[in-house]
Amino acid sequence: MDHKWLLQQAHEARQMAYAPYSGFAVGAALLTREGKVYRGCNIESSVFSPSLCAERVALAKAISEGEKEFAAIAIVGANVGEEPVHACFPCGVCRQVLSEHVDLESFLVVVEEEGEVKTHTLGELLPKAFVF
Ligand code: THU
Repeated sequence: MDHKWLLQQAHEARQMAYAPYSGFAVGAALLTREGKVYRGCNIESSVFSPSLCAERVALAKAISEGEKEFAAIAIVGANVGEEPVHACFPCGVCRQVLSEHVDLESFLVVVEEEGEVKTHTLGELLPKAFVF
């Protein structure tokens, strides 16, 4: 799977972001091991705390469709109306939520820094994840 292509999916998902409060639009594209992609965008709420990150929207779509095996997630984020320049890493809550559904050593987080593709395993981004 081409990581550039997965990032492109995240860019397309970002167009759907509902982010009137922060003005920061995020798109995520979650790739299953079979090659299917579930896209998500952030969805904010006027009461703030129920706001959803793009990553968890994508994960909820996939899990609720019965998916269980995940390979990677691409994420892009920037102020509404601007092109993403800096890498948009998943927040701590999303890292923890993802960790229950993926293999920490092989699942890749794909981000873009000034047009360059960078990958990290989730295990690198979330050492010593909470385990129930
Ligand atoms: N956001 C995401 O969608 N993913 C992240 O990993 C970090 C933050 C969203 C939440 C909120 O709607 C906006 O970005 C600003 O925090």
